[in-house]
Amino acid sequence: MTERVIIVGAGHAAGQAATSLRQKKYAGEIVMIGDEAYVPYQRPPLSKAFLAGELTVERLYFKPAHYYPDHNVTLKLSTRAESINPSAHTVTTADGESLEYSKLILATGSRVRELPIPGNDLDGVHYLRSIADVEAMHKDFVAGKRIVVVGGGYIGLEVAAVAVKTGLDVTILETESRVMNRVVAREISQFFQNMHREEGATLELGRRVQEINGADGKVTSVICADGFTVPADMVVIGIGIIPNVELAEAAGLKCSNGIVVDEYCQTTDADILAIGDCTRHPNKLLGRHLRLESVHNAIEQGKTAAANIIGEPIAYNQVPWFWSDQYNVKMQIAGMSDVHEQFVMRGDPSTRSFAAFYLQQGKIVAVDAINSPREFMLGKKLVAAGAKIPIKDLADTSKDFKEMATAAIAAASAQA
Ligand code: NAI
Repeated sequence: MTERVIIVGAGHAAGQAATSLRQKKYAGEIVMIGDEAYVPYQRPPLSKAFLAGELTVERLYFKPAHYYPDHNVTLKLSTRAESINPSAHTVTTADGESLEYSKLILATGSRVRELPIPGNDLDGVHYLRSIADVEAMHKDFVAGKRIVVVGGGYIGLEVAAVAVKTGLDVTILETESRVMNRVVAREISQFFQNMHREEGATLELGRRVQEINGADGKVTSVICADGFTVPADMVVIGIGIIPNVELAEAAGLKCSNGIVVDEYCQTTDADILAIGDCTRHPNKLLGRHLRLESVHNAIEQGKTAAANIIGEPIAYNQVPWFWSDQYNVKMQIAGMSDVHEQFVMRGDPSTRSFAAFYLQQGKIVAVDAINSPREFMLGKKLVAAGAKIPIKDLADTSKDFKEMATAAIAAASAQA
């Protein structure tokens, strides 16, 4: 058989892997199998400009559709990979085709976590993960309609911000006592809560949705466990994602909250790699294992897998980063704040331009930069270096941040 890489999945990570393989002059065949109808596309704009109707589908594409035939990449779209036979080196698709691979890349991504309550199948109830999901929302997503957003995470808050701007009547229902509980400190949650309320959304914390009511098959209201009821023309549910590991598990690959890979994206099978949201991977810089839901991770693991296949392996150990756009605020996060001992704010949240720092053993482990690109850029370097800045200096806006950061990075590098 000619050399052939099969990529299962056709998302951001898959698109990057195929592109990197061709950039690195991989001469074998590349076959990409994806169950969506589209060539690889960028998901971040889905809950932002695409929902707002400001972008065409083509503008979402990772590469123009002609890139794939031009570069001899065979796309099998609207096609599900059903099983993998690692010893035979084959992938079988839902339509019964069996394809042989030399190397297999699993880029199976993740799927939305569904809310298992009565009424969740009514017309007007949506999840947001794909182009098709957003296209289904557009008909009701118009000024004057009432939208109930379930979940105050990234998806929920970005949808709420676009909905307010579009002129819908917006209610956000979050079960926890604060929004974005998973990713930011209480003070940053407070900032976002204030902002959404100032902009005109109704935000209800500590509300557990129990049932969605409808009439003639169409949603009419959302009912919470405490009886609180909100009338609705549409409901958007964003309560997290689940990594797609079933194919890997069935093939006998080690999985543990994600497909387990090393820093070269290698799974427990010598000829199978995995990339993107679906992986659990080590990060030597941070000294721990991570499963990341981010575009940066999808891109870097795509590149890493290609380099590995081409025989020029480079370990992937980078500072994770994320961003979110809501109203006129861009939040950029560098690092992982889930483990920290100290927290400090720099600047005044009411100006909508400030930063927050998370420290562990005196080292900066994460930065949330709100409309503060400089703090974000330097923040990535501070985290990578394991740099230390005393919290009283971080809080003191009379001290020049660039000077402090540059000195702290130099000091940390000298010690390393
Ligand atoms: P998420 O994990 O960010 O937030 C889920 C939220 O739903 C949490 O606040 C949680 O407390 C809440 N929740 C859970 N169960 C609930 C329930 N029964 N009722 C009400 N609230 C409930 O997940 P989200 O927002 O769905 O995002 C999905 C994925 O999309 C994530 O991987 C996220 O990273 C990604 N994404 C990233 C963006 C970014 O980086 N800017 C933007 C949009 C999505």
